[in-house]
Amino acid sequence: MVCLGNICRSPLAEGVLQHKAWKAGLQWSVESAGTGAWHTGEPPHHLSIKVAKHNGVDISKQRARQFAKEDFLNYDFIYVMDSSNYIDVKQMSGKLWKEDKVDLLLNELYPGENRAVPDPWYGKEDGYHSVYELIDKACDKIIEKYIAGSTRYEVKSTDKSSNE
Ligand code: 4NP
Repeated sequence: MVCLGNICRSPLAEGVLQHKAWKAGLQWSVESAGTGAWHTGEPPHHLSIKVAKHNGVDISKQRARQFAKEDFLNYDFIYVMDSSNYIDVKQMSGKLWKEDKVDLLLNELYPGENRAVPDPWYGKEDGYHSVYELIDKACDKIIEKYIAGSTRYEVKSTDKSSNE
């Protein structure tokens, strides 16, 4: 999950997808990063922490880091929050860029529309709640598609059912 600062949107997306994956019995490793490095080492924004907690998800222990091109090697899929994140990830990845491994998160809900998860950084608390709602719905869709076998990417990690 990638956004600009890795303190508002992508920590929420990491926390929400990880939480839903665990609940679904999927042993996925979900992480997040920012294309910018300004907030490296910082916890998520206090309003992201608050809104996540309100919804039963603890993101307080996350720490921001910058996206690295090696993330293409370590992760099955990369979701970005908006089109500028997409352009930045492409630029930062050089030869490791793989177009079929990256998409905007909201394309899971609105395929092909390239809608952005709006950046709540400059706004008030209600913006964080709206962002949470969008991320929550998109992550439901990711899990739903995976379970139905209609996801477009392979997930390397094994889920519980395949271990049994
Ligand atoms: P995010 O929001 O990309 O959702 O984490 C931002 C956080 C910090 C800044 C910009 C966006 N910033 O300019 O520091």
